[in-house]
Amino acid sequence: MDKLKTTDGIDVAGKRVIVRADLNVPIKNGKVTDATRLERVVPGLKALSDRGAKVIVISHFGRPKGVDPELSLRPVAQTLQYLLGRPVKFGEDSIGAAAEAAVQSLSNGDIAVLENLRFHKGEEKNDPEFASALAKLGDVFVGDAFSCAHRAHASTEGITHHLPSYAGPLLMEEINALRTALEKPQRPTAALVGGAKVSTKIPVLTNLVAKVDKLIIGGGMANTFLQAAGTNVGKSLAEPEFAETAREILAKAKEKGCEIILPVDVVIAREFKEGAASEVVAIDDVPADAMILDVGPKSVAHVTDMLTGTKTLLWNGPMGAFEIAPFGEGTFAVARAAASLTKAGKLVSVAGGGDTVAALNAANVTDEFTYVSTAGGAFLEWLEGRELPGIAALAR
Ligand code: 3PG
Ligand code: MG
Repeated sequence: MDKLKTTDGIDVAGKRVIVRADLNVPIKNGKVTDATRLERVVPGLKALSDRGAKVIVISHFGRPKGVDPELSLRPVAQTLQYLLGRPVKFGEDSIGAAAEAAVQSLSNGDIAVLENLRFHKGEEKNDPEFASALAKLGDVFVGDAFSCAHRAHASTEGITHHLPSYAGPLLMEEINALRTALEKPQRPTAALVGGAKVSTKIPVLTNLVAKVDKLIIGGGMANTFLQAAGTNVGKSLAEPEFAETAREILAKAKEKGCEIILPVDVVIAREFKEGAASEVVAIDDVPADAMILDVGPKSVAHVTDMLTGTKTLLWNGPMGAFEIAPFGEGTFAVARAAASLTKAGKLVSVAGGGDTVAALNAANVTDEFTYVSTAGGAFLEWLEGRELPGIAALAR
């Protein structure tokens, strides 16, 4: 990580600088519905343009199988142009004649976006020929897509074998924020891990219990832990086949001195739908025909209390079924508590993952967190303690 170099101090004027960004944003009827990733990459692109570089932005968009007009980056490039407040050219292809024409039309300081990389199979296959075709378009490569760094693709890994390669400012910002929370944090530290299934987060939980002082478990995955300890969870989402895994994680936590915090009361309902009749019960009183859909007020108070004595919080995954009212209240209350402690300068709060960010947005506290990552899968793999190929390639 300390081996990452940025373009600071390098003369990029007149150079063709290929920036791998993550322009993979949600879009509906041709309109970008959440521009966070674009907003975050804008300052870095502006800085390169101000320094006289010819900026060539490359990205994937969605998961096309071959060319798919629905997944053209053109409308995204338009939104980026708007956010940049300067013209953005568009290349109809990411390699070959159309890409070269777009690059050749650039004057110093100009910016172009090239078409969806995944229209070519070579991108995801990390095909050396595709990587070399991409590299031909530039003089310098900047990796600025932390959220794609878990992919060893031609545009994140392969291309670094052909061009002098640097870490972009957004990637550096993401890494620094995560390191502050996990590698050199102010203690005591806590991690809040929620979400539906234990099975998807075993490596995350296993890595975290060895690193943090307290681990708060919420969401559907808490049910598996509760059930493994003999609690009746009724009809709740749970994975009994992972009971043994849950017990192993609990044992490892004990060995490492990590305190595990599970819900003490829960919000239950008989149906999982908007506005379903719900009630709060103690965790030992979940009826056989009910589902746990959120944490209850005592659990929220317990977590909030605990956060008051915590210096660093890492958050991934909601505490309940927050997308469906009224089952978001537990998640929102904890989010508000973390936000206000952060605002008061008492807590460093770092969050990431698609659902988590959506939940923080719904609670209207995203801006109050110390750092909210733009990454989903890459954030999780970082939490697992894995090396991310897109970062390793830049550090080489
Ligand atoms: C994301 O949205 O998580 C990144 O853009 C990576 O996309 P992918 O999961 O399709 O590789
Ligand atoms: Mg993803």
